[in-house]
Amino acid sequence: MRKFFKVTGIVFAVVLLLIAAGYIYIMYQYPKVPPAPDMKISATPQMLERGKYLANTFASCMDCHSGRDWSKFGGPLLPGTEGKGGEDFGETAGYIPARNITPDMETGMGSWTDGEIFRAITMGVDKNGEPLGPMMPYMYYRNMDEEDVKSIIAYIRTLSPIKNEVKPHSFNFPVNLIFRTIPTTPDFRKFPDQNNKTAIGEYYSGGCMACHSPMDKGEFIKDKMFAGGVEFPAPKGGTVRSANISPDKETGIGSWTKEQFIQRFKSFKNPDTYNITVNQNEFNTVMPWTFYAEANDDDLGAVYDFLMTQKPVSNKVEKYSLPDKYSAR
Ligand code: HEC
Ligand code: HEC
Repeated sequence: MRKFFKVTGIVFAVVLLLIAAGYIYIMYQYPKVPPAPDMKISATPQMLERGKYLANTFASCMDCHSGRDWSKFGGPLLPGTEGKGGEDFGETAGYIPARNITPDMETGMGSWTDGEIFRAITMGVDKNGEPLGPMMPYMYYRNMDEEDVKSIIAYIRTLSPIKNEVKPHSFNFPVNLIFRTIPTTPDFRKFPDQNNKTAIGEYYSGGCMACHSPMDKGEFIKDKMFAGGVEFPAPKGGTVRSANISPDKETGIGSWTKEQFIQRFKSFKNPDTYNITVNQNEFNTVMPWTFYAEANDDDLGAVYDFLMTQKPVSNKVEKYSLPDKYSAR
């Protein structure tokens, strides 16, 4: 018996030691990213326009990094909060607020170099090389056209500086370790040829994919791409689920025409579609309708073209359910 305890004791000590070694290894060896590149972006008017367009539409920077009016449908941007940060995206991973990306010197990114911002967006580490949570979707931006990233940086440098001290993030265990291992070097791709609409649509649909494609253990489920049903805490209580936007005729958007698709987005340019007061425990959505409404028809059409090349998936989605205590079920 004595011997048994001795052996288990040794095994236990060895396991502990291995865990400790693994922990130290991950803490010191990761994230594996190079120093911030030495770059000075000289902004042209075309770059500023392109950066503004992307940051406010398909790249979604402003959706996450600004204040939103969740008392209105779709949570339109609160004017005067562009880039100030503060909204918490942590959910079960911890407290992970979007940062202040305005050029404010103390609380924003005024003191960051272009290279440091570039590295944060495309490799997922902060100024000091410490990992950012992947809710900052650097895993998508690492596949953008490098010139587009530079345009976005040029644009966010022109935002009005806003003094807003955002508290540092805190990651729960063990995600704090997992998050260290995700940052990696970028794999840029060129913006597709103007005539290749489906490729352009694919380029712009990273955000759509993130919200509309169900995942299992951190990987997209291959035969459920764009099938919807991904759950989000609804802004005013309850659960909202992303729609099926695969080309299935019955349960997806297969019966929509391109014009109907574009029109659905464009309708949110009209304040009547979102200036609707949403009370507690009423349906509100995280779909950034008012942001995408600023995208141009050609690009929305390209996204439609791309979606129509995807596999139709039959998946009926219930868009909204009330918090349990209110629902009849
Ligand atoms: C889905 C929401 C979301 C989107 C979209 C998003 N961000 Fe973020 N971003 C975050 C969150 C959350 C953090 C904080 C991560 C952390 O602290 O771990 C962050 C962090 C950052 C940081 C690091 C700043 C710092 O002080 O460490 C930069 C820079 C940044 N984002 C810029 C951008 C830009 C530019 C875009 C668009 C290309 C963008 N973000 C899109 C949520 C988002
Ligand atoms: C932040 C998550 C999020 C992002 C990003 C997002 N969606 Fe959605 N989307 C939703 C949710 C949730 C719904 C269901 C609630 C609603 O209709 O607003 C939805 C609904 C829709 C609908 C309505 C379908 C119907 O049957 O009425 C369409 C169309 C759509 N999304 C297309 C897109 C496209 C295209 C993109 C990318 C350009 C996109 N979405 C990006 C979350 C998102």
